[in-house]
Amino acid sequence: MEILITQQQIQSRVAELARQIEADYTGRPLSLIGVMTGSLMLLADLARSIQIPSRVGVIQAGSYRGATTVSGTLLINDSFLPDVAGRDVIILDDILDTGHTLSSLRDLISKLGPNSITTGVLLRKIGRQIIPIEPDYTGFEIPNRFVIGYGLDYNDDYRHLPHIGVLHES
Ligand code: IMP
Ligand code: MG
Repeated sequence: MEILITQQQIQSRVAELARQIEADYTGRPLSLIGVMTGSLMLLADLARSIQIPSRVGVIQAGSYRGATTVSGTLLINDSFLPDVAGRDVIILDDILDTGHTLSSLRDLISKLGPNSITTGVLLRKIGRQIIPIEPDYTGFEIPNRFVIGYGLDYNDDYRHLPHIGVLHES
């Protein structure tokens, strides 16, 4: 496995995003909503780095099975989503690929009466987007490779890695 982004690089970029979010959300009722399971590490690290009050919640979405990066039917489970009415929501996901997940979740959450919604991703794959959605916070832009670690999985493995790696075909 080749390391694409080191643990150190992730941690310093997450800290930069936290400073941006503090500047943008001071005095506002901030809710960080992580897309499970891939955003788990980003959500935990960002929430602890942001030095203004916030709430933390999750929503689950998935469409990928194994290694495939062909978008199937998106399955959304919002039964753990906290009340976001009147809140300033940032939806956090691990990676922006085709854009289906983030745009579907933004549409769904926008119907629940939030004060505002923005989106943040750790990674954005270049040349893969089908649905036009511009994340407000992006950690890193990466080439079109299948990546794992820091929440991202292959067949539910490798999420625990503290860095982002590229998994080779074999
Ligand atoms: P989108 O809906 O096509 O933008 O896909 C976003 C979702 O696909 C993410 O939440 C990931 O779970 C998954 N995904 C896309 N690319 C990768 C990858 O390279 N490695 C692991 N998961 C990926
Ligand atoms: Mg995901």
